[in-house]
Amino acid sequence: MATEAQPRQVTLEKLMSLAKRRGFVFPSSEIYGGLGSTWDYGPLGVLMKNNVKAAWWRAMVQERDDVVGLDAAILMHPRVWEASGHVAGFSDPLVECKTCNHRFRSDHVEDVTKCPDCGGELTEPRMFNLMFKTFMGPVEEDAARVFLRPETAQGIFVNFDNVQTTTRKKLPFGIAQIGKSFRNEITTGSFIFRVREFEQMELEFFVKPGEDDAWFEHWVETRLAWWTAHGIRPESLKVRPHDKKELSHYSKATSDIEFKFPWDWGELEGVANRADFDLKQHSEFSGKELKYFDEQAKESVVPYVIEPSSGVDRGVLAFLTDAYEEEPDKDDIRVVLRLHPLIAPIKVAVLPLSKKEPLPALAHEVAAMLRKHWFVQYDEAQSIGRRYRRQDEIGTPLAVTIDFESVDDREVTVRDRDTMSQVRVPIDELVATVRERLGF
Ligand code: GAP
Repeated sequence: MATEAQPRQVTLEKLMSLAKRRGFVFPSSEIYGGLGSTWDYGPLGVLMKNNVKAAWWRAMVQERDDVVGLDAAILMHPRVWEASGHVAGFSDPLVECKTCNHRFRSDHVEDVTKCPDCGGELTEPRMFNLMFKTFMGPVEEDAARVFLRPETAQGIFVNFDNVQTTTRKKLPFGIAQIGKSFRNEITTGSFIFRVREFEQMELEFFVKPGEDDAWFEHWVETRLAWWTAHGIRPESLKVRPHDKKELSHYSKATSDIEFKFPWDWGELEGVANRADFDLKQHSEFSGKELKYFDEQAKESVVPYVIEPSSGVDRGVLAFLTDAYEEEPDKDDIRVVLRLHPLIAPIKVAVLPLSKKEPLPALAHEVAAMLRKHWFVQYDEAQSIGRRYRRQDEIGTPLAVTIDFESVDDREVTVRDRDTMSQVRVPIDELVATVRERLGF
């Protein structure tokens, strides 16, 4: 795999400006001056985010016989976070590097001003817990304190027995979940890369001890292939194994799938071998044994867990970054988002050549027909050239143009975003043509 991405024209400023201008992502509570590192997804952003989640769910749950889904509550019993290590692990005095965001216990670094990994500036040491706290019920007292989950994974571990009993899955099998997580990060920034409220897509894949190393490799490769199958260039991705001192408290091995973000390489997804840490901890803290009975060996085992865990928001940012291209266009620049059709928010644009009837009437008829299958945008404002550019800029793979001849011969022109080639097809065959071009 290549490790150096091509020099590209994309910058974070250009992406943020496009995202705001076209309705992908807005600063949260903007009319009140915004709220630190929280973002709202606009009309196009929500479609794109849903597409990322649907593509993940399809590959990880629907197309597999060995994975089932779950949707656990965000609020969980406070003991969960003691068992998971989040209460203890997240309340030591820590320093964080302002450049690479790696965190260290302040008593573990030689020079408290300089990052041991990259040499960047470190924050002041402070006691902090990454988890957001709130209170259950009307009384704000310690006994009523609960946390917003900092990862979705624990909802899976505490339901291990429920899922196993109801589905009767045999090892190896996995439980997948997509949902919101919250972390009171000390350093944020870089748009939607590191935020305090985000969504995760996590799989906990339970295997027999001894088979974990092979499954770990399997999941690193499988997840890498998923990102490229959905349009990320192979040269924009690399796998970075953690060295021993970097491993989380629960991890036997971790590899990050890194993406070349506009500023540098950064973690897009982590694949971890969590061994039997979580099930053992929850067995101990809850008093309920979390084991798997192996019928063949006639013995109970605590399964090992391989966890591919990715962020939806980072995924959206990676897809936007990788898809962004500028090319010369007459005296101007054409901005194109070359998004994979599955990820693109709008699949087809419908553009009547003129605002004069009967073109808009026919165009609305065509749009209504296509809307039964895909998200469609109807646009009749300004010149056809500008309308094509507007669709290119939001990544719409296909545009259907209705002209005056269309009224007589009931044929329309289909234009391809990437090749800009155009073909004329009968309206009766339009759905089949679009389906063939999109691939779904
Ligand atoms: N259950 C394991 C776990 O949560 P993690 O490496 O801390 O591992 C997994 O998080 C993924 O979640 C990351 O690779 C990243 O994509 C996403 N993520 C984590 N913290 C984030 C944040 N503050 N903002 C946006 N995404 C975040």
